[in-house]
Amino acid sequence: MRTLADVFRETLKERGIESIGTLSKRFRKSKNKLQDIAIEIVHGKGAIFHVPEKTAVAWDLNGKRVEGSYYAYAPLCMKDKFEMVLSPEELRSKLPKWPCFVIDLSLWDKHSQKEKGKLCLQINQSYGLLRDYFTGRELAVTWANDEFKSMFHGPLDRITPYNGSTAEFLRERGIDEVVLLDPWAEEVLSEEDFNVKAFVIGGIVDTSHDKKLTPKIGEELERAGIKVRRRKIVLRGDIIGVPDRINRIMGILLKMLVERKPMDEAVYEFQEPLHARWRLRKELPRRVIRYRINGKDFRVVERELFEEYSKWLKIRWTDFVRVLRELDLVTLDEKRIHRLNKLSTPRLINGKLYRVILLKKAAMLCYNC
Ligand SMILES: C[S@@+](CC[C@H](N)C(=O)[O-])C[C@H]1O[C@@H](n2cnc3c(N)ncnc32)[C@H](O)[C@@H]1O
Repeated sequence: MRTLADVFRETLKERGIESIGTLSKRFRKSKNKLQDIAIEIVHGKGAIFHVPEKTAVAWDLNGKRVEGSYYAYAPLCMKDKFEMVLSPEELRSKLPKWPCFVIDLSLWDKHSQKEKGKLCLQINQSYGLLRDYFTGRELAVTWANDEFKSMFHGPLDRITPYNGSTAEFLRERGIDEVVLLDPWAEEVLSEEDFNVKAFVIGGIVDTSHDKKLTPKIGEELERAGIKVRRRKIVLRGDIIGVPDRINRIMGILLKMLVERKPMDEAVYEFQEPLHARWRLRKELPRRVIRYRINGKDFRVVERELFEEYSKWLKIRWTDFVRVLRELDLVTLDEKRIHRLNKLSTPRLINGKLYRVILLKKAAMLCYNC
């Protein structure tokens, strides 16, 4: 999917402009200069001008530093001084119809004041992610009441707050089908879902993963006549390990939608050790080898599993050890496990496979260690 920076780049190229600078120090630290300059133009703050003398600093259309340019971004108030070569209206007229990303705040009143604060923060962070690709205006916040507006510290004038319901918002825009991101959904989000005109994320902050609130948003939309594709984001087939904060879900969606990243990679990018540990707690018990040594039971996992899981879970060694402790597991390297296995006799005890090692052999093992 084309980003705002792509559209800006193409428009400049069409006009024969190969590099642009600025008349101030603005944007010098920006990581995505073209995108950030285009955002300001789209929001009507500035334009591209032809300047009589080369700017001190300039960048080519890939954002690489070049010697000065005769084209510069400057605030609109400069329009009487220099010749404008790309106005906000002109750039806006080139924008494709990007999808809407709706955060549905219908459950706003179910949140405590602290949670409402977190919701506002996550919405602001979602705006930050969207503006890295599009204009930010694609972020719609529905059921946006006065309390939300007063608590939201982000740029309200650069997003689309909407007082009414999500269904009303969609109808006004002629949208009759959406993808609802829903951890409780049966189906996994896929490329086939990327053709919808709106994605809906539940404006929900919770500490309990058992709460089943997102489906209610879907039911409400369906009652209002909107077709809802409920879709979940998973990591290797399971929602455990997928971060559930609104902004992280937005980030994963954007990585998949715009950058065409596979779901597992997108999830990894937005995962924190906390989420990775959730998943590790589920994974490690499946890999346990049970030993009964001199009548004492040990649950062992291979040390090498750390490297294996680090490939798709954002864990550090300390996270691995923490989960081992919580699950009362010990870790041994492959070689040692191999040696233990050679000394042991497999036996079914209470329906579980144990490797039993006798006293004499255990002593030998200690001697060998
Ligand atoms: C904190 S989660 C809410 C989870 C909550 N337990 C519930 O009632 O569904 C906030 C929003 O993020 C999105 N979300 C979180 N995890 C998701 C996942 N694995 N797949 C799809 N969407 C997800 C949903 O839109 C959800 O409404």
